Amino acid sequence: MRIMNEILKFPEDFKWGSATSAHQVEGNNHNDWTEWEKSSERIAQLKKEGKDPSDFISGKACDSYNRYEEDFDIAQKLNQNIHRFSIEWSRIEPEEGKFDEGEMERYKRLIDALRERGIEPMVTLWHFTNPIWFAEKGGWLNRKAPGYFTRYTKYVVDNLKDRVGLWITFNEATTVYASLSYLKGEWPLQHKNIFEFFRVRKNFIKAHTLAYREIKKIYGVSPTLKNDSSMSHNVAVGLVENNVYFSSGNLLKVLGVVKILNWLQTCAWSKTLSYSDFLGLNYYTDYKMFGSKESDDGPAPEMPPWRIYPKGIYHRLMELKRFKKPIYITENGIADRTDQLREKFIKEHLYWVWKAIQDGADVRGYMYWSLLDNFEWAKGFKPRFGLIEVDYATLERKIRPSAYEYGKICKTNQLKIDL
Ligand code: FCB
Repeated sequence: MRIMNEILKFPEDFKWGSATSAHQVEGNNHNDWTEWEKSSERIAQLKKEGKDPSDFISGKACDSYNRYEEDFDIAQKLNQNIHRFSIEWSRIEPEEGKFDEGEMERYKRLIDALRERGIEPMVTLWHFTNPIWFAEKGGWLNRKAPGYFTRYTKYVVDNLKDRVGLWITFNEATTVYASLSYLKGEWPLQHKNIFEFFRVRKNFIKAHTLAYREIKKIYGVSPTLKNDSSMSHNVAVGLVENNVYFSSGNLLKVLGVVKILNWLQTCAWSKTLSYSDFLGLNYYTDYKMFGSKESDDGPAPEMPPWRIYPKGIYHRLMELKRFKKPIYITENGIADRTDQLREKFIKEHLYWVWKAIQDGADVRGYMYWSLLDNFEWAKGFKPRFGLIEVDYATLERKIRPSAYEYGKICKTNQLKIDL
């Protein structure tokens, strides 16, 4: 791609920010993932792979539980005006049906800290982790799971309705969690069962629908309002999914493989379309299958087998256009401790987001993953996604050079590109 010195303007009111999740940044959580991290099976597995188990225990993480003001000061300094974070269910409802008011108050203070800095909160209700009591009841396999989740949602939204307007029910529940935990056996509970995979997906879709209705009820908005009209009220609810851009040669296309994979990626959105005010898209990588002639910018350094393919975000946005819903890019980023690739990565992806907007995709905002380095699930602390570097020994924060470059884009609402 060769684009010289062009200035590309984003729509007025476009939101610029970054994202995090509770388990990855807060520290000292007590949920089904922390149990798994410390289990003897997991430790034995890591040792067998020649890895140091302590790199894979979330522990104090970034201690953002205590340091969120410092983190948000930096986000403000970097001109961000939206921040996506998640609420940790196990903190709010540590025992079944018993809600912790103190923890709820802390999230209120956290949201106030964002608002005081001119940053709009986008709140995710579930980002991969579950309370232990819930996991003991069978987790997302339990047919009562959607009901448990809706009860928790009601408590949180009752408490935060005056502070929050943008809600996300689930992060990548059907596209990532269901497959890694129930099909590929890589995440807790390490099951490999295709029937469970589909059962869990079904429960998430049901839970999203119930939670959507509950949230709308709390705000006194009719859930039957169509499409964009509900975005103009004081509340909008969406579902976040991860999309890979799949490409292949003709053989797999003819066999319908690409179609099936795409269907699986967008199926939760299509099934919940009447219960979603916007779509949240997480995009990181493409995936080339047999015979693909697509070329890309090479491997994503700290996240094999991911690859860097900025145009993939355009392809996915063009596919999502057919849903006729506003779209937020809720995650996009690169793990790059040297910070050599991050600026180019962000700018190239933003170029393709801009292009998608010109071609009719209704994109409302972009959230870089992540505001700061954090605990990258089964890959532990090694991958460094942050705009801010974290020294895990001292917990000192240091802004990376690329963050300032992204900050200029956030400030001017435009991308000066010379690629
Ligand atoms: C996404 C997750 C997020 C983070 C990034 C790198 O799949 O939603 O928590 O781990 O990948």
